[in-house]
Amino acid sequence: MRVGLGFNFSVWLLIVSIAIVFVAPALSSGEEDKAAPNMESVEKGKELFQSKSCVACHTIGGGKLSGPDLQGVTDRREQVWLEKWLMSPDTMIYTDPIAKELLKEYFVPMPNQGLTVEETVDIISYLKFEDSEK
Ligand code: HEC
Repeated sequence: MRVGLGFNFSVWLLIVSIAIVFVAPALSSGEEDKAAPNMESVEKGKELFQSKSCVACHTIGGGKLSGPDLQGVTDRREQVWLEKWLMSPDTMIYTDPIAKELLKEYFVPMPNQGLTVEETVDIISYLKFEDSEK
């Protein structure tokens, strides 16, 4: 059976379109991996947020308590700032301009929760995840 050029061309187009649909995401997957949350870290962070009594002073999207509502905090603060803050809020209120402003607004200095680096990373993963779910 003889197949016309037109037919071949549409088959070719179809193959190319399918290839683009499947290949394009694979090509950009490097970026997606970076953005994709590490769910193990998010879960640990969520547990820490409860067990380290962050919930006593903070909500995420439920309004202010004695501390600020943490919804959107990963958008309004740099990652490095959050890391430093979570590990040493008690010294940052003397040295950091943002922390000084926060203290003026909230009056109570946030106590140092004695977090390890790993716990800090997990809590930030959790906060980021919450912000991405909005
Ligand atoms: C005793 C109350 C209290 C506890 C417990 C507490 N915080 Fe805070 N937090 C505050 C206050 C008050 C502020 C505002 C800054 C200040 O006054 O020191 C703050 C600020 C913050 C900020 C910065 C918010 C912003 O808008 O930039 C983050 C993030 C944060 N707390 C996370 C946590 C996490 C995570 C925990 C648990 C590990 C925690 N806090 C435990 C009271 C608390």
